[in-house]
Amino acid sequence: MNDSGKPKRLALPKLIEERQKVEESSRLWDRYAESIENAVLSEAPPVPNTMLVEVANICNHKCAFCAYPLMTRPSQVIDPELFKDIAAQAYELGVREVGLHGGSEPLACKQLEDHIATCRDLGFSYIYFSTNGSLGDENRFKGIMDSGIHSIKFSINGGDRETYKKIHGRDHFEKALKNLAFVSEYRKSCPQEIRLSVSFVEVPENAASLPALQKAVTHLVDEIFYIPAANQAGQMLNLPISPTIPDTCHIPFNQINITREGYLRGCCNDYQNKLAMVDLNEVSLKEAWAGEHFRSFRRRHLSGDLVGTLCQNCIHGANDLAAPLRPELGDWGALREDDRDVIQVGIPKT
Ligand SMILES: C[S@@+](CC[C@H](N)C(=O)[O-])C[C@H]1O[C@@H](n2cnc3c(N)ncnc32)[C@H](O)[C@@H]1O
Ligand code: SF4
Repeated sequence: MNDSGKPKRLALPKLIEERQKVEESSRLWDRYAESIENAVLSEAPPVPNTMLVEVANICNHKCAFCAYPLMTRPSQVIDPELFKDIAAQAYELGVREVGLHGGSEPLACKQLEDHIATCRDLGFSYIYFSTNGSLGDENRFKGIMDSGIHSIKFSINGGDRETYKKIHGRDHFEKALKNLAFVSEYRKSCPQEIRLSVSFVEVPENAASLPALQKAVTHLVDEIFYIPAANQAGQMLNLPISPTIPDTCHIPFNQINITREGYLRGCCNDYQNKLAMVDLNEVSLKEAWAGEHFRSFRRRHLSGDLVGTLCQNCIHGANDLAAPLRPELGDWGALREDDRDVIQVGIPKT
């Protein structure tokens, strides 16, 4: 609380302010800034405008900066009936924007088009996802756009085939570019406006290839979003703390995150469900958002008492084995260690 008794508002991290100045028409940075500025820091904040659903915790890539390849939680897709139920509850509660990627690859879910259509039919005004763009062909992307998507972000983290292969662990540079070019063209004939962007997560191994990527895709997209690689919710410990997190993390206060099991979770990038809090197969979304498990988690954020949680590793760069908040929802232990050295880049090996 501040002196006037109103919940404190968060200041924007410097990197976001700088990027907004440099890229004056960046919808993605503006949306990021809004999600921080609109966060209400109280233990029971209003239901936010945005929900992120992990439709599958499956991915076909092994990006060098991403913790996904180290996940031990079993890979599956969300139950389609559960998806419908959660989407309907969210809409009823006033949620109007839905992201369908979570921390994995949305195109790994064969029902993705149905999920998009469900959200469109419910009336969501902004349906979006981020993808590596390599699973599926033009037909798949056509189906996705015909189902009602409003925004697609392609993650292309190399500006040439070799760099891309080194970073993504897959030789899909040309396929991703081909699909991007198709989306760029086909969206012109769709009834709804479809935003198209490319993101580039920067590490020393790919930094020099950004200009080549810009040259290859600028004419196809509305924006290119580049960001330094960060420790991804405290799971990639050779990478720095994220420069986009404000003094108090806004996510528990202003974003609904749903796992493919149907759990309400504290953060989208939590691959081992350390921050899974409430099972929505049993409890309504309304009760879960305002209930004691989530209140207690937000109190810990407000008081800074995060020792033993994944958030402590994320915000402070600690390297502790985080305990799950609710082990009864599944305790998947630590991320895999075996090929961490092979797939992690960004920091010289000691
Ligand atoms: C985890 S991915 C999931 C969606 C999809 N598979 C993709 O790659 O777009 C979501 C976004 O997080 C980014 N990302 C992954 N690891 C990151 C890291 N360590 N630091 C910053 N961004 C990261 C990805 O590049 C992508 O833009
Ligand atoms: S960043 Fe996306 S594409 Fe790359 S491994 Fe992670 S989830 Fe897969």
